[in-house]
Order: sequence, then structure tokens, then C-alpha cells
Amino acid sequence: MEKLFQKKGISSDAAKHLNPNVFKLAHHTLRETDVLPAQARADAAGRLVIPSQLGDPVVHGLYAFDPFMRYLAEEFCNPKKLKYNDSCGYPELRNVLADGNMEFGTTGYRLPRERVIVEAGISGAVRSMMAVLINKGNGDEVVIPKWSYTLYLAEAELAEAKVRNVELNSRGVVDLGHLRDSITEKTKAVFITTMGNPLGVAISNETFRDIIGIVNAKEKEFNHPIYLVADIIYEGFREAKPLDPILLSMEAGRIGPTIELYSISKLMASPGIRLGWMRIYHGGESFTEEVHAFTQACSILLQPGLGAASTPAQIALFRTYDELANSAKRELFDTYINERRAEVRRRVHSIYDGLQKIDGLVFPEFYYDGSHKLDYAALNTFYILVGISDSLIKRGELSHARQMADFQLDNGTPAVVIAVPGDHFLADEYRNQGQEYFRLVALFDETRDPAIESIRRFVQSLKS
Ligand SMILES: Cc1ncc(COP(=O)(O)O)c(C=O)c1O
Repeated sequence: MEKLFQKKGISSDAAKHLNPNVFKLAHHTLRETDVLPAQARADAAGRLVIPSQLGDPVVHGLYAFDPFMRYLAEEFCNPKKLKYNDSCGYPELRNVLADGNMEFGTTGYRLPRERVIVEAGISGAVRSMMAVLINKGNGDEVVIPKWSYTLYLAEAELAEAKVRNVELNSRGVVDLGHLRDSITEKTKAVFITTMGNPLGVAISNETFRDIIGIVNAKEKEFNHPIYLVADIIYEGFREAKPLDPILLSMEAGRIGPTIELYSISKLMASPGIRLGWMRIYHGGESFTEEVHAFTQACSILLQPGLGAASTPAQIALFRTYDELANSAKRELFDTYINERRAEVRRRVHSIYDGLQKIDGLVFPEFYYDGSHKLDYAALNTFYILVGISDSLIKRGELSHARQMADFQLDNGTPAVVIAVPGDHFLADEYRNQGQEYFRLVALFDETRDPAIESIRRFVQSLKS
């Protein structure tokens, strides 16, 4: 913590007046890694920088759906639309979202409108959820897979929930036995990202059904709801039909609540708008009062804040989604999605191919199939976790990602690659152990060759 205070010019005495949990979040953000000074140096030196930090499609030239852009322009330029809105979301957007995930097509079920809560991205939704669910005085716990997007660890830390990390199996999917053992009487929620970050691994419908079975059994055992939260932000990139956590919950007879999280940050390529939502499903007869209380509490939480998401953006999205019922618009949108998916896949695979040719790089065990071959099916999102063999470089004070960027800066390689140290996706107790990795946002395209060559030169330098 002292290091952070020094870096930020904060005196420890002054920090004592504040909520100490806030400072712990610095461990769980991609905006505070040790690589950033190298990026600043590279920018100042006018070097070609490969920004591989945040999973932002826009940075890599992948832009939003055109009709949505037009509606945004109209709505933001109409002064009458710039008014306060229902705190839980623009009612017509909530109505449309009650019918399903519009980007993947309607699903044939409808949620009550009050079960849809619009937020400032999934990030906002998770913050609200933790604020509503966690009673730190009770020692409440949350269950999070071991390799996980930083948000979940961060928000658990802020809310002071105890985190139980679940181990992954050899394919990078939550180990079901360990999941069962990790859910205790104190567990409030289980967070599952159905297609991952940083790993890119996708959970199958069967595994999700097994997870439902385990959570159901624990709810019966402890007689309280355990919120099963499914982050499906990358589902639009799945080659097969997207996994639908609510439909699966209906089919599998989910007892307690399932919450689906989605946002327009990835497939819609609009992360800067900060628009996402939770869809709360509860079909069982048990825990109806508890789920009603949760939904009401979310809405009361949002009321004093006057709503988290901008009104014009919500109206523009409503207009876009509403039109998808029209078959000509649906076709246009499906073309947009299919092209985007193919383009992302092409880029990720070509970067993966390039990395595989560099002798000395290693990939996590999850990327290998049964016959020890690297398996492209493990890469479903646009992230690649990769490391430099620990026979070439040991763990040190600075992350390998930072050492690589420093080397590239000082040795005039074609580019400077700014990656995220892999440990950032782990809880503190799992860091600084074993093989170190860094995570690439594998969306760079024209700069692919200079990026790969620059990584290669760093690895080469470690051999001599
Ligand atoms: C798994 C996952 N969930 C959520 C987010 C953030 O979503 P949003 O922009 O909607 O807050 C990210 C961002 O990279 C992510 O990887």
C-alpha cells in the first residue's frame, strides 16, 4: 500500500481518513499495473505502441453498429431528451430487455419489467449487486473462479465480502467438485463468466446446468437463496448459439435467483457509453420474498443516485433493439455480428499462430487438448494468456510484461507491447507463484507483425 501512496502522492496519514478498501482496489484494476510507466515512456519517445491492456474493441478499429450510432446522434442532440429518467432504467428499454437478449434474438420468455435493472455497464451492476447483497457483519461470502476478470475481486473487496476462489479444471472451466466445497452457509452469490477473461475459455450448456444443480442443492441445504450470477458479455463471440443462463435455469428447475449480466461494451463496441444491465430470473416457489426484497433494494439503492445510465443512450439503444423485430433490420444486425465474430476470430488466431512460432513462450495448460496440442477452441474471446518459460526468466520485482516493454523501449524493437501482468487476474494469495503470464488483447491487426517480432526479440534476448 505504501508504494501506491508514494506513486499517487498520498500521505499515509491523510489516507487514514478514508475508506481503506478503496486503496485495495488498486490491486484489482488494469489501470494500475506496473506496465503503465513504460507506455508513457514509449508514447513520449514516439514509438509504435501496441495497446494490449483494456479489452476495448474501439481501440482496435472495431466500431459500433451503424443504426445505433445514428440514433445516438439524434437522441443526444435533442435537448428534450436530456432529462432525468427512471433510476432503474428507461422504461421502454427495460420492457424490450424483459423479452430477452435482443442481440442474440428473442428467447420466448418474458421477465417482469422490474426484474430488469439498467446500470452503468456490468461494472455498475456488480457494484450495486454487492452493495445490496453483502452484509459484512454477517461474514457474507462470494464465490469467484480462480482466473477472473478483475471487477469481481475488486467489488468483493470494496463490499468486504469474503472471497472463496474456485479452482479450474484442466480445460479452464470451474472445477465442479471444488465449487461444491466452496459454497458455504455464508455464500451470497456465485459469479460465473460464461466466456472468460483472461482465459477465453467458454463454459458449455452442460457445465452451466451442473452449476445450477450444485447451487440448487446448496440452497436446499442452507435454506437461503444463493444468487447465481452469469456474466455473458462475450457470448456474442461464441461460434455456437450463445449460452442463455435464464433459459437454462428454467429448463433445469433453478430454485433460487439467476442474474444475467450483459452490456454494450464488447459486441456493440460501445464501452465508452457505459451501458449494461442485470436481468433477474426467479422461477422457483422458494425465496420469493427474498428475491422481491433484492429487486426492491436495487431500485431503492439507485433512486438517490437518480439513475446510473444516460437517458439519451438508453433511448438510442431502445430504438435499435426495438427495430430488430423487423426482419430487414435483424438481417443487417446479424450480418454485423457475423462479420464482427469472424474478424475477431481471424485476428485472435493469427496472433496465436504468430506467438506459437516463438520458441520460449508457454501457454496455460487450459489451451492444450488431450493430445497436448494447442487447441484453438480454447480461445473464444479476444484475449490470450501467454508467458515466457520460467527456464528463461524468473519472477522478479517487475512483471514480465513490464520487463518486456522496457526491453523493447531500450532496444529499438519495431514496437512496444503493453500487456497486462497475468497476476492481476488472480486473488492476492495466488500471485507470485509458479509460471508467470501476461495477457494480450489479441485484436491488433496491421501491427501484428511488428508486435510479434518485438515479443520474439525479447524472448531471444533472454536466451543469450
Ligand atoms: C468478463 C467481463 N465482464 C465485464 C466487463 C466490463 O463490462 P462493462 O464495460 O459493461 O462494465 C469486462 C471488461 O473487460 C469483462 O471482461
